[in-house]
Amino acid sequence: MNEITINPALKGRSLLTLNSFTDDEMCELIDLAVALKARKAAGVRGDLLHRRNIVLIFEKGSTRTRNSCIVAAQDEGGAAQYLGGHETHFGHKESVKDSARVLGRLYDGILFRGFSQRTVEDLAKYSGVPVWNGLTDESHPTQILADLMTLREAFGDIGGRKLVYMGDGRNNVANSLMMGCAKAGVNYVNCTPRELLPDPALVARAREIAARHGSTIDVENDPAVAVRGANALYTDVWVSMGEEDKTAERLRLLRPYQVNMDLCRATGNPGGELIFLHCLPAFHDCETEVSRETGAQEVADDVFESDFSRVFDEAENRMHTIKALFVSALQR
Ligand code: CP
Ligand code: NVA
Repeated sequence: MNEITINPALKGRSLLTLNSFTDDEMCELIDLAVALKARKAAGVRGDLLHRRNIVLIFEKGSTRTRNSCIVAAQDEGGAAQYLGGHETHFGHKESVKDSARVLGRLYDGILFRGFSQRTVEDLAKYSGVPVWNGLTDESHPTQILADLMTLREAFGDIGGRKLVYMGDGRNNVANSLMMGCAKAGVNYVNCTPRELLPDPALVARAREIAARHGSTIDVENDPAVAVRGANALYTDVWVSMGEEDKTAERLRLLRPYQVNMDLCRATGNPGGELIFLHCLPAFHDCETEVSRETGAQEVADDVFESDFSRVFDEAENRMHTIKALFVSALQR
């Protein structure tokens, strides 16, 4: 079993975007998550969060992030309290600054999911405790730790591998994935229509980081060109939480960007050298309320259910990577 090694420099540290950590620190967090996963599989119970209290403030819905936090805290002897929607005064009857100062007196750490990146930054500024970004409109850094861990489980050394993200090129997952790939030396292609291009400043920053590792960051409009030689195809919903009014436009723009078997074949890397990733929740052939209403389907069912789909490993790894974050920041 891997030894549990926690970098002392991560004590008290927040995760607001992936650039809250150096490239090495980010990779060490993934090493730690791998070790924590092996330890749990061996049936060894941890106590690294003994008597630690974590609050989860969610303005948007969640299955994976919310439950990963709860299980991660419980596994290590700590507790996580969920505060959803308007259950508290947070951000509507009381300012974020005041709520941060109250919650920071009561809790050892705060995980926030919501709309504004500014909120998670203010929580970190005023609470006095570590704050973790569990998704904002701009970024989703905890997701990408799990994605990189899943890539590592598939390929071992991931430096120089090629990951292609298909779909809404300017959403939270695409932004953080670009940064995470840059920091890990993974060649990244954002394949998206011209109407949904990522922020050029973010692309420039990712390119600077990738250059340190000799890897590349590209933006491409043509799916067949983008996927050539890919080791991983990644997609996300076409309409993110809070953007439901854009559904019709997104369907029109993104239908040609669906991940299907033809696209997988166009990688030239079928089978063992290609994996499919999705942060989930996903629209494939599933019967959900939203997919019935919109007809959105960013991934074909046969790809989602294929033997090269790693989406449920990826979902499980959310918990191990969030646990790595918690135990690092709250180490004694
Ligand atoms: N991938 C992800 O963040 O899932 P949830 O929205 O279920 O938390
Ligand atoms: N881009 C998606 C990610 C969900 C995990 C959203 O923000 O809804």
